[in-house]
Amino acid sequence: MAKLTKLFEPIRVGNLELKNRIKMPAMAVSPPEAEEAVISRLKYFYAEKAKGGVAIIGISCTATRLIEDPMLGLYDDRFIKGLAELTAAIHTHGAKAYAQIGVGYCWAFGDGPVEIVGPSGVSLSGRPGTPFRLGGPREPTMPRALTLDEIHAMVETYGDSARRVREAGFDAVEVIASVGYIIAQFLSPLTNKRDDEYGGSLENRMRLLLEIVENMKAKAGSDYTYTCRLSGSDLLEGGYTADDTAEMARILEKAGIHEIDVMSGWHNAPVPIIQTDVPQGAWAYLAAAVKKAVGIPVAAGTQIQDVLVAERVLAEGKADLVYMARALLADPELPNKAKEGRLADIRPCMNCCRCIEASDGPPIYCSVNARLSREHEYPVETPAAESKRVLVVGGGPAGIEASRVAALRGHKVTLCDHAPRLGGLLVLAAVTNRRIGNVVEYLDRLVKSLPIELRLNTAVTPALLDEMEPDIVVLAAGGMAPTLDVPGSRRANVLNHRDLKELLAGRGFKKGGIGQRMLSNLGALFVRFFYEPSLIRWMLRFGFPFKKRVAVIGGGFAGCELAVTLVERGKKVSIIEESQRIGNDVGIVHRWVWMKQLREAGAKLETGARVVEITDKGVRIEKDGSIELVEADSVVLAGGLEPNTELAEELSGKGTVVYAIGDCAEPGKLLEATASGFLTAQKI
Ligand SMILES: Cc1cc2nc3c(=O)[nH]c(=O)nc-3n(C[C@H](O)[C@H](O)[C@H](O)COP(=O)(O)O)c2cc1C
Ligand code: SF4
Repeated sequence: MAKLTKLFEPIRVGNLELKNRIKMPAMAVSPPEAEEAVISRLKYFYAEKAKGGVAIIGISCTATRLIEDPMLGLYDDRFIKGLAELTAAIHTHGAKAYAQIGVGYCWAFGDGPVEIVGPSGVSLSGRPGTPFRLGGPREPTMPRALTLDEIHAMVETYGDSARRVREAGFDAVEVIASVGYIIAQFLSPLTNKRDDEYGGSLENRMRLLLEIVENMKAKAGSDYTYTCRLSGSDLLEGGYTADDTAEMARILEKAGIHEIDVMSGWHNAPVPIIQTDVPQGAWAYLAAAVKKAVGIPVAAGTQIQDVLVAERVLAEGKADLVYMARALLADPELPNKAKEGRLADIRPCMNCCRCIEASDGPPIYCSVNARLSREHEYPVETPAAESKRVLVVGGGPAGIEASRVAALRGHKVTLCDHAPRLGGLLVLAAVTNRRIGNVVEYLDRLVKSLPIELRLNTAVTPALLDEMEPDIVVLAAGGMAPTLDVPGSRRANVLNHRDLKELLAGRGFKKGGIGQRMLSNLGALFVRFFYEPSLIRWMLRFGFPFKKRVAVIGGGFAGCELAVTLVERGKKVSIIEESQRIGNDVGIVHRWVWMKQLREAGAKLETGARVVEITDKGVRIEKDGSIELVEADSVVLAGGLEPNTELAEELSGKGTVVYAIGDCAEPGKLLEATASGFLTAQKI
């Protein structure tokens, strides 16, 4: 078993003795409710994280009146009481707490409006607005340059906030000076064009940050612990580099900062930073550059979800701590499990970024951890009043989650799937998304570790139902494949998700000529015994199951992800989408990356296009009133799934209590599937 010795060494940060090297960074998660309601929810949220064994937890707060944003207020003494409840909840479970005094792109002076402001009224894109709304107005405007009086007022406000942080029982306070928010804009020559004492030289560009640190120390005490988040580089052309950040860190150390968290680029950097395909530990080199320059502890992070990578970063001396955000949302118990050597029990984050996308309008939910933000309603699985026989039909994420919760609540659970392996549609998704393979393996281990009777290769028939006599049937059999009612849609060169799922389940195509059937049967046989997503990805380079030119009908999430996978493997891809926007349901974090990849690979993106016919030459579409041919050898129907009501209707006459969940009831993504399994099993 891998030893995680460095990760669990204690460390001193300022006045704090941390029990290990794992830090949960501040995350803006405050739901849009009245203050007391928020606090009573968040008490459970943070207590759960603290129980999981993390050393220190950050809470995202704001010094200014950004009332529409998911940060907790620090701009008035009235917030101290609620914040104190949160720090107490964290301390009860043995973790330390710090408040991040955050601010996005905006500030509200006095009773004035929330305005988008910056050092110089410069927007990097030359257009109003910012990539994220966080701290920004709903209608983006050009930033307004701050006056000297306003800068001085901001400094005082930070100091007042730091005093409140200490009074609320936090162990430390952090300033965020990264990712392109206001203070970072002062640091960068790209956005700071001032010609007064706050612009020009590095010393001047750092003046605001240093005055803030000084003011905080004056008001919260020089015996308190202060940390700062910097972007190791903004990753922008002409911006600041790792060497510049190292210099800033050196100056901050002298100013009395006790720890530096090194983030990667700014939010508007044209570089994938937290997306699925970014390798684990990719940004640790930025922390290493800072660590060389200072004597205070340095935290590395961003795209470190794997505890072995975290350990390696520490062991190689690149950092003294690691911050883990999404990994701890996906599994708050990660530190305890890692410490006990139970690495296989850690629920893996799949980098889908649904949590981040929701941080503009929390509560945030997680695709793999349905309890996230529901801790106050479901702190633990409570035993059911009566143990029932529960039959779960379908071993995809919804069915597995329902089985897990039902089994933990004391029901006798049987989980059936007609496929030879667990995972449902995830088995297919793992081919197009590298991070899903880990999730499938985790779910498989999970089911096998619980008192769940697992029956694979088992179709649920009336005879089986008669034999099992379940009290409850949970239908999680997945959605119906999209159909397309046009001539040629049943041709052998047309595949839908059901065909592909069947193939991965070891069953060849039932259509096409003898050659295609034989090939598909051989492929299916191979996959049945050697299912390995990376191997299948590699096989995609060849003509199976897609030939060289592929038309993907449906430019939503599934179609885009498949198209990206195919262009990476040298296919010539066209996406045909009826609406005017490809990737409409792809989140903000991944969409621009995928669109860039598709455009750079020369994929044809046909929007506003209606499919008229599929032939052996490709897909005939109607667009702008004329008919065009999109040439293709293989056609994939990647439109959205439809609910699958057949089995529910069949069972409805039998007097059994039936719940339909997941795609079967309402097609969605992994997050919705997991949530529906979780919530349904809580009420059985
Ligand atoms: C839901 C969510 C909200 C976040 N809000 C903040 C925030 O308020 N302040 C901040 O400094 N970072 C914020 N972050 C960024 C994280 O602190 C972290 O730097 C980022 O997620 C990369 O780390 P990871 O790969 O471990 O997730 C947020 C991240 C998430 C997932
Ligand atoms: S929502 Fe996705 S990215 Fe966020 S923690 Fe969960 S699995 Fe990870």
